Amino acid sequence: MKKELASIVYQIWPRSFKDSNGDGIGDLGGIIEKLDYLQTLNVDYIWLSPVYVSGNVDYGYDIDDYYNIQPEYGTLEQFDNLLSEAKKRGIGIIMDMVANHTSSSHEWFKQALESPDSPYRDYYFFRKGKNGKEPNNWISLFGGSGWTKVSENEYVLTMFAPQQVDLNWENPNVRDGIADIMKFWLRRGVAGFRYDVINIISKKAGLPDKNPHKKGYQFADDYINSLPRAFDFMEEVMGKVREEFELFTVGEGMLLTQEAAMRYSRCDDPLFDMMFQFDLALIDCGPLGKYDFRKFYHWTIKEFKTIVRKWQMDMQNRNYWMANYLSNHDQPRHISHYGNDKKYRVESAKAWAMFNFTLRGTPFLYQGEEIGMTDCKLEMDEWKDIEAITDYKVLQTMMKLPAFIARKVIQKKTRDNARTPVQWSDAAFAGFSTVKPWIKLNPNYLDINVENQENDSQSVLNFYRNLTGFYKAHPVLTFGRWTEILSDHPQIIAYVREDDSEKLQIIINLSSKPVTFSLDEIEGKDVLTTHTDGAPWNHKMVFAPYEGRIRELSKH
Ligand code: NOJ
Ligand code: CA
Repeated sequence: MKKELASIVYQIWPRSFKDSNGDGIGDLGGIIEKLDYLQTLNVDYIWLSPVYVSGNVDYGYDIDDYYNIQPEYGTLEQFDNLLSEAKKRGIGIIMDMVANHTSSSHEWFKQALESPDSPYRDYYFFRKGKNGKEPNNWISLFGGSGWTKVSENEYVLTMFAPQQVDLNWENPNVRDGIADIMKFWLRRGVAGFRYDVINIISKKAGLPDKNPHKKGYQFADDYINSLPRAFDFMEEVMGKVREEFELFTVGEGMLLTQEAAMRYSRCDDPLFDMMFQFDLALIDCGPLGKYDFRKFYHWTIKEFKTIVRKWQMDMQNRNYWMANYLSNHDQPRHISHYGNDKKYRVESAKAWAMFNFTLRGTPFLYQGEEIGMTDCKLEMDEWKDIEAITDYKVLQTMMKLPAFIARKVIQKKTRDNARTPVQWSDAAFAGFSTVKPWIKLNPNYLDINVENQENDSQSVLNFYRNLTGFYKAHPVLTFGRWTEILSDHPQIIAYVREDDSEKLQIIINLSSKPVTFSLDEIEGKDVLTTHTDGAPWNHKMVFAPYEGRIRELSKH
């Protein structure tokens, strides 16, 4: 298997990482300043959320120009500088490839709008309305209709915001256009790409109504999700790119099934080296996704383990590869979501980190998680996230929620939770900037910040450093067999990772209560632990809340 799979990837959402020129907005200069810091976390790659020219409706995921850098973030020259400074430190840069849609200010779309005869019309899905309504009943993934009106009785398909226009991948010029963009950045020296919602680039032929007998907008689900042509299109494009370049690739799969994962990232012939799936992130949601809150915050560790087992076993048995993560720019902070962001913030941050770095697959971490950043309560007039703002209305109109409950749901789930500035120190504006940042700063920065944790050997930050170092030194954690133990235990997740030369046992209490469990094997030595005062190994064991240990067992 490709050795790059044993890498650590750190995701940067640039707007909130570090501001270097005092305008309250994170930028490339800020990233360059922090490369030494990232090196201390044993990072191999940085996945950079979009830094291309964008109108910021969806903060970079609505791209106006794929061939230039957003002026707020810097220049192409600075980008080249970032590449070479990162390279000096053994770090590769992975760009975000947003290929399902361009923004409505992109040149292709502007040309398409200008004239009905423009060849660019066929780059998108322009359709006439039906009986005074949208061409079909698909719901946008940000809520509301999946169509945006462009003239009297004419619409264009926009599956996210109205300013994000879906590309028609049936058109070979679209495919070549995307391949050219990738080549441009690879020529500059980027290491690879993360492919945004890449399994929805093909839409069901004819764009028919979904559930035509039902009222209201319908989730198009199997009409857009992992269709065979999405795979074929990308295979063609990647084929062209790979003729010239070797690259690191990770695809984002929306509602990815295991069947689809197996096609996209099979180890023997991968289209992408690995895929992301969202089952854990959506553990407390209904079938309509993140704001479908019917089980809101009532999930059990047993359910969590079932999801983990399902993916770990399947990727192992059927030989495909996945990216593991707990946080990203689209989800609330994982300490607040799965862990305990109050009494056991430090302990739960360490426990969940240990979990993420000991699974089969390639571990990703997201800016700020290495210091245990938490959700931040934003009042309505502080919301920046278009998804949250749109869904606040949808929850009230379509799901008939009273406004105050809708507001609470949004506050729990909004992507803004993950997008508050990284807390570098307890200085003014958390050392993120010298002026008020573009988005609310989490007031807990006085307590939770990088500087505080630098010199504390027991800090979350230093735990991440030890853990990532340990991960790099033990390839068994990447490639070894994953075998679960204590599978019925309601609070503990535990497994063994084993290859020809090593056998590591990982036992983690994922709950805020002490636990007891029985063990057959009590020989072996702890090699990494979340707590310094753990009890000696015994047939009857007690673990403190969020205690986790990696133990080396002898191979007999
Ligand atoms: C997934 C990205 O991660 C998210 O931030 C974005 O809003 C959508 N794709 C649309 O590009
Ligand atoms: Ca700036």
